[in-house]
Amino acid sequence: MNLKGRSFLTLMDYTAEEIRYLLDLAKKLKADRAAGIYGDSLRGRNILLLFDKTSTRTRSSFEVGATQEGGSVTFLDKSSSQFGKKESIEDSAKVFGRIYDAIEYRGYEQSVVEALAEHSGVPVYNGLTDVDHPTQILADLMTIEEHIDKPLSKVKVVFCGDTRNNMAYAWMYGCAKMGMAFVAYGPEELAPDPAVMKGASAVAAETGATIEFSQASAALAGADAVYSDIWASMGEEEQIPERVRLLTPYKVTMDLLERTGNPDVLFMHCLPSFHDFETELAKSQRELGYDIREVTDEVFRSRHSVVFDEAENRMHTIKALMVATLAR
Ligand code: CP
Ligand code: NVA
Repeated sequence: MNLKGRSFLTLMDYTAEEIRYLLDLAKKLKADRAAGIYGDSLRGRNILLLFDKTSTRTRSSFEVGATQEGGSVTFLDKSSSQFGKKESIEDSAKVFGRIYDAIEYRGYEQSVVEALAEHSGVPVYNGLTDVDHPTQILADLMTIEEHIDKPLSKVKVVFCGDTRNNMAYAWMYGCAKMGMAFVAYGPEELAPDPAVMKGASAVAAETGATIEFSQASAALAGADAVYSDIWASMGEEEQIPERVRLLTPYKVTMDLLERTGNPDVLFMHCLPSFHDFETELAKSQRELGYDIREVTDEVFRSRHSVVFDEAENRMHTIKALMVATLAR
């Protein structure tokens, strides 16, 4: 498998075999790290980490993943660069392409990550946009394979909550590609964009996957994994009151997990998560009368929860992506 020089803007650009290759490489790199073995396949490679939104896991994974393979990174954001303020995306992309070997970008419109790829001439990795979060799905698929003893094509994932956000769409693409069963379980008001459903369904028709949107709790039956995400994504904070009203019925509770009928169902979450009132935002919203917890603390800390495995696997999968596309 040769992925050298390839960008990673969405899973829709990758075949099932290419995704399989990245997952297997990530497993190998994880085992190597556990054995104290580090490669140097990124030696001399300089990777730009460009962030228009904040990050804990994604930035850390790119930084540590690159460093462990001998590469180096530069972090830039709006406050510390001209990007998006005094220089067009096209001009910045051309400059970055002259200096760096690859670019990671996190921000708002998908068109920005696409323009960076078009104009830089180097591999560009999507570290999250308003409509996609493909590196998160690599980590989540890897985590599912570590915990569920059956092929991905037999696995059912139910995403609970804001079914028109970046995670819901990334899951649709991931499940469609890997032949999995996917249900977006959320209110009609936050229904997925029909164009996204259509695109994922067209792939699903070829791979045997199923992609559904449902408000019926019966859709939870037989789930192998219940996935949740925050109700108001980065940049949507002013919509919290409306989201609490629409999404409280889709909060992940023990009762919701029981409705899957699967005593060993996994609880998954990309993180960060509101599962208690230990964060500034959850506290301040509670004072205003809004409970923004998308999952109960009981579920989050239960034996079902694999959220910190997912977080660790961000690093292994992102490292695999860089090695596959950039190694000497
Ligand atoms: N899951 C995820 O992308 O986390 P960060 O926002 O911390 O990068
Ligand atoms: N939907 C969330 C995902 C965070 C990883 C957001 O965009 O804020």
